[in-house]
Parts: sequence; C-alpha cells; structure tokens
Amino acid sequence: MRSFDGIEARGAALVTGASRGLGFALAEQLKKRGFELILHGRDGDALKDAAEKLGAAYYTADLSQDGAAEALYWRIKADGFTLSVLVNNAGLGASGEAWTVPGPRDTGLIAVNVAAATKLTKLFLKDACGRGYGALLNVCSVGAFQPGPYTASYYASKAYLHSYTLAVREEAKKYGVTVCSLCPGPLDTEFFERAGVRKPRGAMSAEKAAEYAVKKFSKGKKTIVPGFLNRLARAVPAALRTRFVASLKKPG
Ligand SMILES: NC(=O)c1ccc[n+]([C@@H]2O[C@H](COP(=O)([O-])OP(=O)(O)OC[C@H]3O[C@@H](n4cnc5c(N)ncnc54)[C@H](OP(=O)(O)O)[C@@H]3O)[C@@H](O)[C@H]2O)c1
Repeated sequence: MRSFDGIEARGAALVTGASRGLGFALAEQLKKRGFELILHGRDGDALKDAAEKLGAAYYTADLSQDGAAEALYWRIKADGFTLSVLVNNAGLGASGEAWTVPGPRDTGLIAVNVAAATKLTKLFLKDACGRGYGALLNVCSVGAFQPGPYTASYYASKAYLHSYTLAVREEAKKYGVTVCSLCPGPLDTEFFERAGVRKPRGAMSAEKAAEYAVKKFSKGKKTIVPGFLNRLARAVPAALRTRFVASLKKPG
C-alpha cells in the first residue's frame, strides 16, 4: 500500500468533527506534515476557535441532517479546494440498555457515525480514485471488534464503519488511493460526558492517539489501534471481550 507522503502538495486535508477532541488533535498532526487544513464541526464558536489556532478554513454542518454531508462536500469543492485527504472523525455515542436509549439519539448516531461517513467516503473516493491519489482515514473504535452491551448502537455503528472501510480499501488500492481504519480505545475527550456516561480511568490523551494514528496512516496501515494494551486485547476471544464490555458498561 502506498504511503501518503507527498500528497500534501496536491490538495488539502478535511477533518470532520475537528472542533475539539480527537478531530482537533488529528488536524494538528496533519498540519505538522504540511497539509492545508479544512476543519468541519457543528458548534460554530468552538470550530472558529479551533480553525484560528490551526490557521485552517472551516465549515459548519450538522451531519445528522438529511443531505448535510453531501452539501458540505459540494460547498468545499465549490470554494475551489481539492481534497487529497479526508478524515471522517465526527461521531457520537449512546449508552444504557438499548430499549431505554431515546429514539432520536440512536437516529442521530446512525446518521452521523454511519450514513454521513458513508456518503463522504463515496464522494471522496469518486474524486480520489478518478485522479489516482488520495488518503482516507475513517475513525472507528475498538468497539468495532465485538458487540457492546449497554452501548449497542454505538458499537454496532463502528463495526459497520470498520467493515465498510476495509472493504473499500480493497477496491481503492488499484487506483493508488489509501484507505485506513482508526480504532482507538477510550480517549480523554468530552465524548463520554456527551454520551451521558463517566469517562473510564486510564483514557489516552487525544494528542497521543492522534500522533500514533497519523504516523501509521501516513504509512497506509490497514487497522490502526493506538495503545499497546488495546492491540493486545484483540487476541482475547470476542465472547470474553463482549462479557468484559458488559461488566464495564453496565450502569450502577
Ligand atoms: N472518546 C473516545 O473514547 C473514543 C474512542 C474511540 C473512538 N472515538 C471516536 O472518535 C471520534 C471523535 O470523538 P471524540 O472523543 O473527539 O469526541 P468529542 O470530543 O465529543 O468530539 C466529537 C466531534 O464530532 C462532532 N459531531 C458530533 N455530532 C455531530 C453532528 N451531528 N454533526 C456534525 N458534527 C458532529 C462534534 O462537533 P461539535 O463539537 O461541533 O458538536 C465534535 O467535533 C468519534 O467518531 C468517536 O466515536 C472516540
């Protein structure tokens, strides 16, 4: 698989959900590698601050809305940008017994984590495969590797995105386009608070995860798992991991 070294001179990098957390940290790493940056977020004030810090262009869009992902992509193109890198990072979680999660929370989660990421992947790959260069990083989770009791829709959304990413990777490689899946473990961001649960102890900093992720992404690594213990845990049988997740996530 080709690395993405050199493509920073051929187009900008778009990072979705870059107003804070992992998205912002990934954008910082791409800036260090010389990419012109385009940040996306939903919260205009946080996004503007982030863009000012990184000297980036920025676009707001609520990706849970019908047609928002396509409109975002077309706006960026209409403004004259060519994208050589796309990072589909925007995402949200949900917790609790599946039938207690409010319907709109699941609908919004699927719209952002699954539908918007799929639409942006397709739009980006159509252009990148046509041109013969580009690199795509889809942000999944270690939750993609087994079912997640008490966070069922979130883990299932990431399992979808991970599988989809590895499939399109195979299709895209003959065009010289790199596609990678980033699967972090727990991160020290606002994610858990926003999902209504306590942050697990020992969560990795977004900066550390992003530094590792972009290093591996630049080399075209298929599945990128920051953290030695997170990589080691993949050797444990999935049924045991599912029981572990259940014990960890069970409320009360
Ligand atoms: N935190 C973890 O432990 C962890 C572990 C594995 C994977 N991940 C994944 O990493 C990615 C980033 O998470 P994070 O930890 O950095 O969480 P975060 O701090 O909550 O940031 C999430 C980002 O996604 C954006 N976003 C959420 N809903 C959106 C919507 N409807 N439309 C547009 N943008 C939306 C947010 O934008 P606004 O701030 O503007 O709303 C924000 O920029 C997610 O895909 C998450 O699933 C996180």
